[in-house]
Amino acid sequence: MQTMPRDAYRPSLHFTAPAMWLNDPNGLLYENGCYHLYYQHNPDSLDWGPMHWGHAVSNDLLHWQHLPIALYPDALGTIFSGSAVLDEKNVSGLGQAGQPPILAFFTSHGACEQQSLAYSLDHGRTFQKYAGNPVVKNPDIPNFRDPKVFENPVRGGWSMVVSAHDRVHFYASQDLLHWEKSGEFGLAENPLPGSIWECPDLFPLSCGGKEYWVLVASMILPSEQGGSRTQYFLGGFDGEQFQNTHPFAGPEFIDQGFDNYAGSTYSGTPERIFLGWAASPAYAGQTPTSPFRGQMTLPRTVSLVKTPLGGVRLAFSPRGLEALCEKARPLGPAQTLSEDAFLLRLTARPGFLLTLQNGNGEQLAFGLDGDNRLWCDRAGASRPVGGAFAEPIFQKMAAPRFYEGECALTAVFDRDILEIYADAGTRCFTLLAFPSVPYCRLTLTGAEGTLCPLCP
Ligand code: FRU
Repeated sequence: MQTMPRDAYRPSLHFTAPAMWLNDPNGLLYENGCYHLYYQHNPDSLDWGPMHWGHAVSNDLLHWQHLPIALYPDALGTIFSGSAVLDEKNVSGLGQAGQPPILAFFTSHGACEQQSLAYSLDHGRTFQKYAGNPVVKNPDIPNFRDPKVFENPVRGGWSMVVSAHDRVHFYASQDLLHWEKSGEFGLAENPLPGSIWECPDLFPLSCGGKEYWVLVASMILPSEQGGSRTQYFLGGFDGEQFQNTHPFAGPEFIDQGFDNYAGSTYSGTPERIFLGWAASPAYAGQTPTSPFRGQMTLPRTVSLVKTPLGGVRLAFSPRGLEALCEKARPLGPAQTLSEDAFLLRLTARPGFLLTLQNGNGEQLAFGLDGDNRLWCDRAGASRPVGGAFAEPIFQKMAAPRFYEGECALTAVFDRDILEIYADAGTRCFTLLAFPSVPYCRLTLTGAEGTLCPLCP
């Protein structure tokens, strides 16, 4: 059977490292007209290993310029995930006249996990480690990592949310250097006991004139419990800790697919912009790509939407694709595909079915069933992929909608990844697929819509 080369899976619009291993997005910051993307990177191997922060910059979040590695391991350990902020008023004192510093907060992963700081005086190009590291010591907790720092609009100063094994801790600071614990969240309220929390984020969004705080946390779960996914909670922030004021019936995830993990949002942007690692930790080390391994999701604008069946929900929409859309053409029940990156806009009815197929009999499917559930099925969509990829829980997923009737959806396919944004983005599915040869046929049942080739 013919099989495409591993480098042919490199997506055209989704961020990948030039070579070697990538996982979480880190230090997401917009500063001086430029989006920074630092990322978990092992520059010496296609496998996870000693972590560095790789670095790239962009002015549209779709076209990236690769820059030298920004943070290297040091005596305190390797460089795990974290965030970056602009210290505009130089409260840290690490800046110089007319040169406010960018501060990168990360986890030093050594004998234990602690939070450290590095600062840049050249717009995030190069960093110096702060001499007083760690700025937050380990309080005797095995997994204590991924600091997300943000300005505290309630009490002034700055806040940090950091994952602390099976919950998050909050810290507060006036000068970004000295941190005091201000609260905790998660142990009692987590509908997924046994999970290890990672990469937390906390930010406000308004909906219908009311402000909500959104707490996002990626959670490692064994595959019997559904595998690792990213959960969110809606509530308030009193300046010290998060309160879960809108409990859902069960865990609510930001994505119904398998491949959106360890995501975070940008600092320094008027809109909330999210970027995730498009993989599942369960098989990220087995994906059949080379000379790179790992990619990000598309950048997504985050909002809250009031839905008829589910109340207020988090919603995502892909950002900036209009400019890359060539002329749209209407879709019929079946067509030949000559492009490997395209955007679909569809209006679907119950019974809707979309498939992408290739000449080797592989098929990737997405649909809407008679019980008002959206579903995806990638069983038999890929060449053999090792690890847990082929386990049933990573093949099919169905999720109830928050709307009834017709379903408007946007789908983006980019060589080895399908992203679906349905019902105003309140239901998203992100899934990797590695067809042995490119999908060359698209079929559509129970829907009308258009296909737009995407020109990188
Ligand atoms: C999430 C994660 C983080 C950690 C990093 C290490 O994927 O496990 O918690 O900081 O990856 O690479």
